[in-house]
Amino acid sequence: MMEQVRIFDTTLRDGEQAPGFSMNEDAKLRVARALAALKVDVIEAGFAAASPGDARAIARIAEQVEGPVICSLARTTEADIRAAGAALANAPRKRIHVFLGTSPIHREAKLGLTPAEVLEKIRTSVALAREYADDVEFSAEDAIRTERDFLVEALSVAAASGAMTLNVPDTVGYTTPDEIYELFRHLVAHVDRPREAVFSAHCHDDLGMAVANSLAAVRGGARQVECAVNGIGERAGNCALEDVVMALKTRADVFGVSTGIDTTRLLAASRTLAQATNSPPPRNKSIVGANAFAHESGIHQHGILKNRETYEIMKPEDIGLATHGIVLGKHSGRHALVARAKALGFALEGEALDRAFAAFKEVADEVGIVDTARLMAILAGSGREGRQ
Ligand code: KIV
Ligand code: ZN
Repeated sequence: MMEQVRIFDTTLRDGEQAPGFSMNEDAKLRVARALAALKVDVIEAGFAAASPGDARAIARIAEQVEGPVICSLARTTEADIRAAGAALANAPRKRIHVFLGTSPIHREAKLGLTPAEVLEKIRTSVALAREYADDVEFSAEDAIRTERDFLVEALSVAAASGAMTLNVPDTVGYTTPDEIYELFRHLVAHVDRPREAVFSAHCHDDLGMAVANSLAAVRGGARQVECAVNGIGERAGNCALEDVVMALKTRADVFGVSTGIDTTRLLAASRTLAQATNSPPPRNKSIVGANAFAHESGIHQHGILKNRETYEIMKPEDIGLATHGIVLGKHSGRHALVARAKALGFALEGEALDRAFAAFKEVADEVGIVDTARLMAILAGSGREGRQ
């Protein structure tokens, strides 16, 4: 049995707090249901103290969405923790996620706190959160730019106060895979964890390394990854859920861990979110983009028609995509045209094939992608002798 990595989804909190991705209560509920169908371990449903609407959305998700642990974010203030506790009151399984900046720049420029005051706030806020939920997570905001010894101390205090998940955010997307791997190794070896708290990675994508960094953190000992569908989130976004999940599945030989995710629901979750936020992922987005399993060029199509593994490392059906993946355009070749024509009931060969292929290239030059209706018109005009 492979060890499991928990998937903590923050689409509805870190994802939703970025410009352009805001959702109303009903939309958040729809996305939460898609996340539950995906079987994520934890849904961070929002930040209860942020607005009455967010608190209501968390409460509705807590009452109506079955399966995952439902979580609310909270600062280390009493008011935030009480708001999170109240919003989560009816959740069968709940988590309060308390965070506080630990790096010098956060301590000095933002919070105006000494290191000792930071430790004291961690101690009291985690203990207060434990009054509302057995399951408490602590995040050392800007952990990556925190002095190593102080980070070890801060996480040890959180664990001693009752936090069962110790999250290590790369808040500004600054780290690299080698660096974060080494950091997790160090934390696993040095943080005092009386009840075997789980280490968690939370990576942002400012330098385009959020997924690679999360995977490196897993290799270093993280057993929870925080991520968002379609990689939405602050600035350049969070680690994309679909990417990290499919990387762990496809390269289990490298990572040696599994997740509990039903990957056949990945595309549905991506589409539900795209609809809720009116923001589809880019065509070339890994896993869920429109081009992720599409093949237009003739050489690739020829290979795919013979054996999909020539140009595909994952099966489209594994992410919930039912398609042949062949797109007919000006780069396509005869093999693809013959195969699609056959699927439509036309046996193309000899002169009929030459005529159809020439007509197809003309149309493709004009319109780009040749859809089924246009293809049918071409095939019908290429001579009845071709009809099966
Ligand atoms: O990026 C970050 O540091 C966060 C924390 C609140 C976990 O989102
Ligand atoms: Zn974040």
